[in-house]
Amino acid sequence: MELLCIQSQEHPELPLAELKAVIECENIDAEIDPITEGLVILRDISKQNLDEYYRILTKRLGYTHEIHELLLETNVGNMDGDAATVAWSEIIDKNFAVRVKRIRSDIDTVGYERKLGTLILDNSQNIKVNLSKPNSLIRVVAHDDDLYVGIERIRLDKKHFEDSKPHKRPFFYPGSMNPKLARCMVNLSRIKEGELLLDPFCGTGGILIEAGLIGCKVVGSDIYWKMQNGASINLDYYGITDYRTFHLDVRELKMYEKVASVVTDPPYGISTSTGDVDGEEIFKEFFHAIYDNMKDDAYLCMASPHYVDLKPMVDEVGFDIVEQYRIKMHRSLTRIISVIRKKLD
Ligand SMILES: C[S@@+](CC[C@H](N)C(=O)[O-])C[C@H]1O[C@@H](n2cnc3c(N)ncnc32)[C@H](O)[C@@H]1O
Repeated sequence: MELLCIQSQEHPELPLAELKAVIECENIDAEIDPITEGLVILRDISKQNLDEYYRILTKRLGYTHEIHELLLETNVGNMDGDAATVAWSEIIDKNFAVRVKRIRSDIDTVGYERKLGTLILDNSQNIKVNLSKPNSLIRVVAHDDDLYVGIERIRLDKKHFEDSKPHKRPFFYPGSMNPKLARCMVNLSRIKEGELLLDPFCGTGGILIEAGLIGCKVVGSDIYWKMQNGASINLDYYGITDYRTFHLDVRELKMYEKVASVVTDPPYGISTSTGDVDGEEIFKEFFHAIYDNMKDDAYLCMASPHYVDLKPMVDEVGFDIVEQYRIKMHRSLTRIISVIRKKLD
């Protein structure tokens, strides 16, 4: 079977990269078919483990908004004939509504909602339209002239990302990244439930919260006691219990066990102090300090400003950069998200 994933379009690459990373690390058996920005089909997904896949995807994904079971791939010219081939009475639970979403398409959404609604009624028995509280939601995504028709299986709740913006947490300090990006970075690090994730520049704990919420064990450290304490307050507030925090200079880091992933946003610019280490030097020192604290197959996902060249630094320590994404912050700052791992022998 096929799943239709509707994603955020707030970044051209990160939503797809996040989905790919989760599919990979959770061993989800599916072919990823990106249709366009904001729309991906998971093909040949095994039906057998579907409930578990739904649970994982709902719990983890930040930039994916809706997941539907794909019923039909058609286009504007063929919709009438193709809609007649679907066994609507078997798929729809008593009543339904059709909702159309356009991605780079100028079709008349209301017109197509009515049109497909009528076609469904004409090709089924004992089902009705219910626009206010439908048991079954039929989702159409229109892209150019193509139409992808699915039935909603899961809607991912994005309220958490609104409610946990840095200024809404009990401990606030400037410089914490938005929670959706933090969640995406945790996912890019390929960590799994129950594994240990470290943020050695944890600040207010934004990354640790996102990792804790998907079921990871988390450890955070920061050079300042005030930050360590603030991160603990925030983790408690979000109900995360499996955590440890320390206050420690990253150069002194010696973990009690090797970690399965490191996700972090090192200090740069004026809003965060580097604890007396000069500008780019902190990145070098960090790579040296972190290497021996990571398992051999662990991933590191980190943010950095565009003007810091990480390549020679990671080479020197024995890491490889495997993926990079650019996020334009303002005219003079682009943030780079890098996924890094130890060089394979
Ligand atoms: C960009 S902030 C991290 C923000 C964090 N992701 C959050 O959610 O609040 C960088 C953090 O690194 C800490 N820091 C600076 N120099 C450090 C050092 N040498 N070792 C450890 N932490 C350091 C700062 O105190 C600051 O909290």
